[in-house]
Amino acid sequence: MSRAISTNLLNWYNQNKRTLPWRDHPDSYAVWVSEIMLQQTRVDTVIAYFERWMEKFPSIEDLAAADEQDVLNLWEGLGYYSRARNLHKAAKMLVDSSLSLRERAEGEGKDAQLPEDTKSLMKLPGIGRYTAAAISAMAFGQDAAALDGNIRRVYARVFNVEEPLGTKDAENILWELAEDILPKGKAGDYNQALMDLGSAICTPRKPICEECPIRQDCEAYQLDIQEMRPVRKTKKAVPHHVHAGAVIISDGKVLLAQRPKKGLLGGMWEFPNGRVEENPAQELASLIEGGYQVQIKVVNLLGEIDHAYTHFRVKEYVFCCELRELIRLSQKENLRWVDLKNLDDYPMGKIDRQIAQRVQTSTLCNQQNLKSDV
Ligand code: ADE
Repeated sequence: MSRAISTNLLNWYNQNKRTLPWRDHPDSYAVWVSEIMLQQTRVDTVIAYFERWMEKFPSIEDLAAADEQDVLNLWEGLGYYSRARNLHKAAKMLVDSSLSLRERAEGEGKDAQLPEDTKSLMKLPGIGRYTAAAISAMAFGQDAAALDGNIRRVYARVFNVEEPLGTKDAENILWELAEDILPKGKAGDYNQALMDLGSAICTPRKPICEECPIRQDCEAYQLDIQEMRPVRKTKKAVPHHVHAGAVIISDGKVLLAQRPKKGLLGGMWEFPNGRVEENPAQELASLIEGGYQVQIKVVNLLGEIDHAYTHFRVKEYVFCCELRELIRLSQKENLRWVDLKNLDDYPMGKIDRQIAQRVQTSTLCNQQNLKSDV
């Protein structure tokens, strides 16, 4: 049965595969970059980012030599920014390990290379079991089974896996199945065939089973329970946080803060802000003083912005504020006064980019227009 599945799937793939810029690319670096971008992001969104990235950083060496702010700027809008920081870090590690001490001193050496096997690939930051297998199979033709969201769904249906997706039991079963069924010597195409099938036919809702090349071997289809597979874990309620943010303009410049390097949106820039409990307008001034040692007066509401992260939602009330006490920024490396016209040079998450655009297009926060109404 497993031979029939892989043969039918590979034949289908040969005729139906999507044309994607990283496919048939001889360059393992391109496969790596695309796989990292695709980790949490849809193919349609990734294509333009991938092309821009390869133009700006065409090799591991170019990426390793780049400034982190340029790397984050290019990634802006894709989310999960640790992916960009890890790519950058891994590129530097690969360049370092490709140079002998003498070559390093003389500024020459051989090209940096990705390792070919999954174990070595997984030692690089940002590369887990799936990504290592995808790179190893696609870029180096190794027999490595890959399991991403689409492939998990396909296998959960084909083999009627009853354990809820995401549980340890389901993971063990799915990885074992993926390794058993892998056709030797064809893992690159086979893994991508499963991805394309999951995206075009074996979709989360209303799969188009009549067009599926492996429906004869699909247990869920035969039992007509395909929409009940995969079994999902019951979802936890998503927390909802309320934030207040401050747009502090002085002499045509606005105050930005850089987030800590580690964690959510690490290294990105934002308007000073924090969590509030009940009254955003009243709590903001003391929050900014406590968090940033900057004294402000809250003047008027610029707007409200809602954003959903993976594990929580945020509503941010954004206020135009007056600066009360000027701080010496030389003592605060994570704060910077930025010219309004230069805001685009600073990588930001979705909420803060929206604030930046409102600040640039609205006159509400211009100093001469500030009128206290809170
Ligand atoms: N998702 C992750 N990797 C992919 C690939 N190589 N092709 C299509 N979708 C993908």
